[in-house]
Amino acid sequence: MDKTATLGQVMINEELLKQRTKELGKQISEDYKGEEILLIGILKGAVIFLSDLIREITLDTKIDFMAVTSYGASTKSSGVVRILKDLDSGIEDLNVIIVEDIIDSGVTLHYLRDYLMGRKPKSLRICTLLDKPERREVDIAPDYVGFEIENKFIVGYGLDCDQKYRNLPYITCLEGI
Ligand code: IMP
Ligand code: MG
Repeated sequence: MDKTATLGQVMINEELLKQRTKELGKQISEDYKGEEILLIGILKGAVIFLSDLIREITLDTKIDFMAVTSYGASTKSSGVVRILKDLDSGIEDLNVIIVEDIIDSGVTLHYLRDYLMGRKPKSLRICTLLDKPERREVDIAPDYVGFEIENKFIVGYGLDCDQKYRNLPYITCLEGI
């Protein structure tokens, strides 16, 4: 990252994040009415979104986490996905929703979807806070999307650049990278 990179203007403020998360929670609660679900949060970026989302869901909801990497410390995808932390428990016969912070090239979720499908869940869907469809390199379509955004490098509300800016309560972008 260029040392001159600066934070841009607020792109999605706290109020909008809260409102959209509430809508997504309601939608998920309706779609899975009467069922139990398992949210799989992808560490670390999705932690903040997942913790807000789960409180908007009215179903019996379990959580588990995976950590994967495809980026290293760079802002460009290497196209290689590696599992750093696997699930704690099996997902057989469970309604699984992968909760991700952002879909960029789609490489990470494409890999994860195939990997988790191999573990025979009852169903598998993808919920992402942000989607950059312009950047897609592989075929992956999320079932729940918070916001579609333009092709910028996003930080805040869990999303980082070299582990920084996750604590910003809003979504913004880095300029000059
Ligand atoms: P993909 O495999 O290219 O779709 O990348 C997905 C992962 O890259 C996300 O889970 C993020 O961790 C990271 N990523 C992609 N775009 C951004 C961004 O704009 N800001 C911060 N992290 C990003
Ligand atoms: Mg991530």
